[in-house]
Amino acid sequence: MEITKICCIGAGYVGGPTMAVIAQKCPHLKITVVDLNQERIDAWNDENTDNIPIFEPGLSSVVAETRGKNLFFSNDVEKAIEEAQIIFISVNTPTKTYGKGKGMAADLKYIELCARQIAKVAKDNKIVVEKSTLPVRTAEAIKSILDNTGNGVQFQILSNPEFLAEGTAISDLLNPDRILIGGDQTPEGQKAIQALVDIYANWVPQDKILTTNVWSSELSKLTANAFLAQRISSINALSELCEKTGADINEVARAIGMDTRIGSKFLKASVGFGGSCFKKDILNLVYIAKSYGLNETADYWEQVIIMNDHQKKRFADKIVKTLYNTVAGKKITFLGWAFKKDTNDTRESAAIYIADDLINEQAGICVYDPKVNQKKILADLDYLETRSAAENAKSTKSFENPYDACQGAHAIAVLTEWEEFVDYDWQRIYDAMQKPAFVFDGRNILNKTEMQKIGFVYQAIGS
Ligand code: NAD
Ligand code: UDX
Repeated sequence: MEITKICCIGAGYVGGPTMAVIAQKCPHLKITVVDLNQERIDAWNDENTDNIPIFEPGLSSVVAETRGKNLFFSNDVEKAIEEAQIIFISVNTPTKTYGKGKGMAADLKYIELCARQIAKVAKDNKIVVEKSTLPVRTAEAIKSILDNTGNGVQFQILSNPEFLAEGTAISDLLNPDRILIGGDQTPEGQKAIQALVDIYANWVPQDKILTTNVWSSELSKLTANAFLAQRISSINALSELCEKTGADINEVARAIGMDTRIGSKFLKASVGFGGSCFKKDILNLVYIAKSYGLNETADYWEQVIIMNDHQKKRFADKIVKTLYNTVAGKKITFLGWAFKKDTNDTRESAAIYIADDLINEQAGICVYDPKVNQKKILADLDYLETRSAAENAKSTKSFENPYDACQGAHAIAVLTEWEEFVDYDWQRIYDAMQKPAFVFDGRNILNKTEMQKIGFVYQAIGS
């Protein structure tokens, strides 16, 4: 089958950037990204590419280069499915919030909807690619739906998980550590794998394109995220011990990271990891292990989440304790709301949970984040359902300018590692704050000696 047209279902943080890069590197292919969300598609089609719905360094220029040429964003899901030879499924797979597996299992209802829609519309053979992160053996369910509800055409299912991290999506996509493609071991399966290999081979060296069976590929994605998150929980667990003993977690991380067997990446102690993937994917892994009766395996990985929840909680507790055991009526300013720098994504951001804890203590929260607005902040708090939307709105205010946000604050909490925070005029901020002026650096980005010289009571993670 000659590949000329690709469809991607889901125009989110993965579908949008991934397809934009494929379009840039494969000008001979027509790529249509579809979504049910009209507002999101309209934003992707905004004349000014600075207004696309996802902020990622470098993304808007790739979209400007390809959109309307060989990259299209549309709500016409059926048309895009019908004309494509390869269909990527890149829809969200959140944790279930109801029924069996509530709070742990992946909710596959959007995946199933895609499969049913593909089956209904397809009039010729298709390759269906799992780009979303899925529980191991999901391809079996997708195949069953496609084969039993389709029009008698042949489907090949591939697993091609995405390893990009937000904030560095474009460079990760342009220069990936590896591309993973899992498929059937049959001749038809191998042909489908080769068709996808040929697309990536337009810019990825062959030795970085790994092919496996479908189940290894599905499980490798959950495993990679579990290993990455485990490193953060490991270093965060030790940050607490450093605070008790006088050791410094930055020094410890450097010392152990220079061992090439350990490696230096992902050893940054923090207020706790956030993002849409780590928690959901580990919970999913735990659920899968439990469903096979592997309780020790399940408990082992669950500890990564328990440690992360503890790290967030103890950060909020430390603020309350340091501010003389009460923050009631006090103004606490958050620098940063996004779950990491260089993204406008706030899903599972530590800031949300810390704000929630401090509002319970009747603090007033002021926020400055260069890419997140008040509407999003309030929506994140409302989603927790701890209190009414009116109460959240009364306790939380966001600012367009960091100096206004810090004016009159009792304490500042640095929750995201945005680079601009380091370069602020910290003397000016200090002068405008209540005294003693406290800074809780949840990202260890500020210089302790300089902050103390200005007069701040400065507390970092793990030292
Ligand atoms: P997202 O929520 O940003 O985007 C998903 C999009 O799919 C939404 O716009 C939604 O409207 C759309 N959608 C849902 N059902 C649909 C349907 N039936 N038809 C058409 N559109 C539909 O999610 P995301 O962050 O892009 O994640 C997508 C998948 O990729 C998830 O499985 C996630 O685990 C995985 N992943 C995410 C990242 C990341 O950094 N965000 C990285 C690697 C893998
Ligand atoms: C993650 C994986 O890295 C990526 O490969 C996968 O495809 C999707 O999930 P993402 O969640 O976008 O990517 O960002 P990541 O860089 O992994 O950061 C996740 C969280 O961990 C952030 O809150 C970040 O601040 C935190 N983190 C990361 C630390 O606290 N310390 C570190 O050393 C690294």
